[in-house]
Amino acid sequence: MALSRALYFSVLIAALLLIVPSSAVVPHALFIFGDSLVDAGNNDYLVTLSKANSPPYGVDFAFSGGKPTGRFTNGMTIADIMGEALGQKSPAPPYLAPNSSAEMTNNGINYGSGSSGIFDDTGSFYIGRIPLRQQISYFEKTKAQTLEAMGEEAATDFFKKALFVIAAGSNDILEYLSPSVPFFGREKPDPSSFQDALVSNLTFYLKCLIQSSDFRTPNGIPPAVTELNIQRIACSKRDLGSLAPPGFDNALDPCCGGSFPPFLCIGVSNSSSSLCSDRSKYVFWDAFHPTEAANLIVAGKLLDGDAAAASPINVRELFAYEHK
Ligand SMILES: *[C@@H]1O[C@H](CO)[C@@H](O)[C@H](O)[C@H]1NC(C)=O
Ligand SMILES: *[C@@H]1O[C@H](CO)[C@@H](O)[C@H](O)[C@H]1NC(C)=O
Ligand SMILES: *[C@@H]1O[C@H](CO)[C@@H](O)[C@H](O)[C@H]1NC(C)=O
Repeated sequence: MALSRALYFSVLIAALLLIVPSSAVVPHALFIFGDSLVDAGNNDYLVTLSKANSPPYGVDFAFSGGKPTGRFTNGMTIADIMGEALGQKSPAPPYLAPNSSAEMTNNGINYGSGSSGIFDDTGSFYIGRIPLRQQISYFEKTKAQTLEAMGEEAATDFFKKALFVIAAGSNDILEYLSPSVPFFGREKPDPSSFQDALVSNLTFYLKCLIQSSDFRTPNGIPPAVTELNIQRIACSKRDLGSLAPPGFDNALDPCCGGSFPPFLCIGVSNSSSSLCSDRSKYVFWDAFHPTEAANLIVAGKLLDGDAAAASPINVRELFAYEHK
């Protein structure tokens, strides 16, 4: 378990580096894709074992007054933190929420879904989830509706100002590495074939997204991002054992919940007594998901980090990027 968790977290950091460039203007909207690292409640609308809709999930989430929202952490996700740092007043709503299209023009939409992967089959143990392919086709629907509602010129401008965040791949990798979860219907490929297939699928979806967003993309950024992702996955195995960031007491144990399927902090009758004493000192909130405290560190590196943390440029630099 400890080994999987360490790897998982390392992979999460890598996976969030995929950001489609936007214009220099502060965003009106974030469009968020991926897994439980960024899910803001989509899985609450699905029949799935992968849900975070009961206390103490959300206990530190100010926007909900400490009530669960479907986020798989105690507070803000990395996407929430990035949105707030870039001037958003409230987080992008989950796509499946009845209200989501009403809030779209202010905040964007969150398509993320816990237990989903880059591969369609990933997460089938948990039953319901929205694989990345489906998330992108939902975005295409959003885009068509926006074009119709705003007209082409305003819609193009709107999407150019938006930030796109993709946090995907951790479940694919976790399922591949985990001895306890059978690799559904397939023989396990060797690690480098697996990694090539994963990156190739991701690149394919990234291209779909860029095409469907109609951006004028600065030359060179998507290939550089994809290349970086490969390097990061490769090096994450070497990073093991050096993952306790300064300021944290506990880098491996969950603040809440056990290490049994579905690995969540559920069935907790009295949340205060079953939580760790200081949530800001734990890297992990439940067996698989980082605390808000850990998310703040990761988001900070993505926003303002040097090339070792965010490459080819960090999110703030991306924001200031002038379209040529
Ligand atoms: C739906 O949107 C309205 C208007 O933005 C808001 O007042 C209401 O709280 C939203 N409902 C939910 C469940 O988010
Ligand atoms: C996605 O990965 C699968 C292997 O799981 C592979 O057969 C398929 O060709 C890949 N698709 C793309 C577009 O890379
Ligand atoms: C939960 O536990 C705390 C102490 O750990 C106690 O003060 C509180 O009354 C308990 N709440 C419930 C609902 O049992």
